[in-house]
Amino acid sequence: HKRIGILTSGGDCAGLNAVIRAVTHRAVGTYGWDVMGIYRATQGLMSRPVQAIELDLDKVDSILTKGGTMLGTTNKGNPFAFPMPDGTFHDCSEDIIEGYRQLGLDALIGIGGDGSLAILRKIAQQGNLNFVAIPKTIDNDVGITERSIGFDTAVNIATEALDRLHFTAASHDRVMILEVMGRDAGHIAISAGIAGGADVILIPEIPYTLDNVCRKIQEHQAQGRNFSLVVVSEAVCTEQGETVTWSDRFGECRLGGIGQYLADRLSTCTGAETRVTVLGHTQRGGIPSPLDRLIASAFGVAAVDLIADEKYDHMVTWQQRQVVYVPIQEALGHYQAVDPQGTLVKTARGLQICLGD
Ligand code: F6P
Repeated sequence: HKRIGILTSGGDCAGLNAVIRAVTHRAVGTYGWDVMGIYRATQGLMSRPVQAIELDLDKVDSILTKGGTMLGTTNKGNPFAFPMPDGTFHDCSEDIIEGYRQLGLDALIGIGGDGSLAILRKIAQQGNLNFVAIPKTIDNDVGITERSIGFDTAVNIATEALDRLHFTAASHDRVMILEVMGRDAGHIAISAGIAGGADVILIPEIPYTLDNVCRKIQEHQAQGRNFSLVVVSEAVCTEQGETVTWSDRFGECRLGGIGQYLADRLSTCTGAETRVTVLGHTQRGGIPSPLDRLIASAFGVAAVDLIADEKYDHMVTWQQRQVVYVPIQEALGHYQAVDPQGTLVKTARGLQICLGD
């Protein structure tokens, strides 16, 4: 008999509740273990009393299709230098380790992106905790896994947005620019761009010139097709290589604005009317796609099986149609950018989509 904890950390995405449900089914339903759902990532473990809820099959009965995470999450504050109300920073790692012990856990499952999983692993090593990792991020750039939870839903949402923009672009003879998420990588942009029939796709992995993009739109105009669809990843820089950011009220630099930058320049060089849609967090919310539900369910069951085998410090990954267990250190060491020579880029070029280069 084991008692395990589960927490969701970093930005939310569709499919997190599906993992929580799968973990609970496997652990409680199959093995008869206890599962403690920890609130708001490591913050639940550093709070006193520890903030957690015992999960059972009833509590996870209707969450499969729900967006967000029933446990809450946060990507504010590194626990090794956690911002305190008085403006100082405190190393909370020992509080988190103590929280794990107070809950009487035998193992912890952490669902996160590369940043939060690396932090959780460091804490687990420091406290000698039994830790297993599940990758999630709409950006799909984490570790060795071919898929992370949330990516497919985000691509679906971005593709649907393009489908909608297509008709309004055509009706108004406009150049529609869709700015999609992806903090460092262009996976959402290239995938949704191809699936949604974009004319131009700009990703941070491929440098572009405005001249090339203008030429593509002007070619369309010369052929009598007076509208174009442009997809741009938020991580794309200006032509001069500057990141377009704005500061939020915490003084943090956020990505955003490259869509408007392009709109201004493209309307000048093509004479077309331009409009920008920034999809933002709609890509993270909502009902998970069937594929995300499947991956989340497979990852949840497999993570519990790892614990049953007492095979800790591993991450579940998706490789060649199945779950493969990989040591976390090894798994996180593979940052996944879009491969400029890969199939999707070749496909886009084969479809005469302008990639800006
Ligand atoms: O990493 C996921 C992600 O949604 C990125 O695509 C985006 O740049 C970032 O998180 C936004 O973070 P926040 O929710 O803090 O605004």
